[in-house]
Amino acid sequence: MTAVDARPDTVAGLRFPTGFRWGTATAAYQIEGAATEGGRTESIWDTFSRIPGKVRNGDTGDIAADHLHRMPQDVALMKDLGVTDYRFSVSWPRVQPTGRGPAVEHGLDFYRRLVDELLAAGIRPVATLYHWDLPQELEDAGGWPERDTAQRFADYAGLVARALGDRVATWTTLNEPWCAAFLGYGNGVHAPGRTSDVAALRAAHHLNLAHGSATDVLRSLLPASAEVSLTLNLHALRPLADTPADHDAVRRIDAVANRLFLDPVFHGRLPQDLVQDTAAVTDWSFVRDGDLEVVSAPLDSLGINYYSPSVVSAGASESPSPWAGAEKHVAFTPADGPRTAMDWPVDADGLYELLTRLRDDLPGLPLMVTENGAAYDDYADPSGQVHDPERVAYLDAHLSAVHRAIGDGVDVRGYFLWSLLDNFEWAYGYGKRFGIVHVDFASQRRTPKDSARWYADVIARGGIDR
Ligand code: NOJ
Repeated sequence: MTAVDARPDTVAGLRFPTGFRWGTATAAYQIEGAATEGGRTESIWDTFSRIPGKVRNGDTGDIAADHLHRMPQDVALMKDLGVTDYRFSVSWPRVQPTGRGPAVEHGLDFYRRLVDELLAAGIRPVATLYHWDLPQELEDAGGWPERDTAQRFADYAGLVARALGDRVATWTTLNEPWCAAFLGYGNGVHAPGRTSDVAALRAAHHLNLAHGSATDVLRSLLPASAEVSLTLNLHALRPLADTPADHDAVRRIDAVANRLFLDPVFHGRLPQDLVQDTAAVTDWSFVRDGDLEVVSAPLDSLGINYYSPSVVSAGASESPSPWAGAEKHVAFTPADGPRTAMDWPVDADGLYELLTRLRDDLPGLPLMVTENGAAYDDYADPSGQVHDPERVAYLDAHLSAVHRAIGDGVDVRGYFLWSLLDNFEWAYGYGKRFGIVHVDFASQRRTPKDSARWYADVIARGGIDR
């Protein structure tokens, strides 16, 4: 990646560096629909969303935002916004339905058409290979807690790289492996819905291994100029009080939520404090000799998804939990201040704190904010307009935090707003709207919200005017 030039701020506002990548982000299961088309079989989310009580309102991704059939229209919307980049994910069960064997060309063709459409619109495609839709057959064979799933993922990565490698320059292996491991296998609020600390830790390691193995495959198939990355949802953590006990609570969550991924991927080692903290759960013998070398294959950048920070203290919280036993020692306190419709606190300083931490911990590594955004209860008014001033305020504050971080020497190369469209928000179904484009799910009509116009303006000016 080439470094971006600094462009001076004006008194009137915040200018971002020339070449800054302005994007939007989506994920296959959340927008595509067409769940049984072209030989696609079930992913763990198809199965999970059909279990009563797992997803609000019984919603599924069967139709979602019908993006598979409306893709040209959605790319045209992005062209109107002026985005330079679009981050999408490839649906594993659409491309390789059983998670083994040859690719289904019909499935790959959709992504070939998407990429061609993007390039014709002057938008750079950023492909994520795994955004949580594991083929159900692989889950039936044991899923992420089993080592073989990592090898299956590396093979699938090869199929996609062979098909799209000539026209996609930026690749991300996994999206938020912490969620896939700990929400999927730890507290079970995400697919496949298992509740086992050891399964979650095994899943985390095998996701890391999948990332490293796939990185090797991508490097062997893609041109040398291709960028290979990983997206983590790093947790911005604050102690409730400035006491040793509360700092220790931060350490415990940092180990299982952040360093379990950062240390293997960037330093080829496991966080030893986590290994000790979890000694009653596992002896970690599923980590084999040579694994950490594979996991730590060099990357071109790191993607960070950020929404809000967490305040922790010594105490205890509910089980089953996504913290591999740390919940016996840690309490979470809701932060003060405004909240989004997810009930997540609005706190842009957390993003600044994460970015500056990464500047210090991983010097020289380019960063991208691969997701940031907010859900609010949006609706179209009688004239068909969607006014979302809270989202504009949220985005303004978070982009300002990114700008401040860049000013303080953090090498942030781009910002991808989550999300382009209202979509299937996992366990919350369609009730939570993150889009800057409103989707009426009955008619599939798209209406850009005020925030879409605001973002288009920011992109056109290369920053925020005050
Ligand atoms: C992160 C996930 O990657 C995305 O799929 C989800 O919709 C957003 N967070 C909002 O929860």
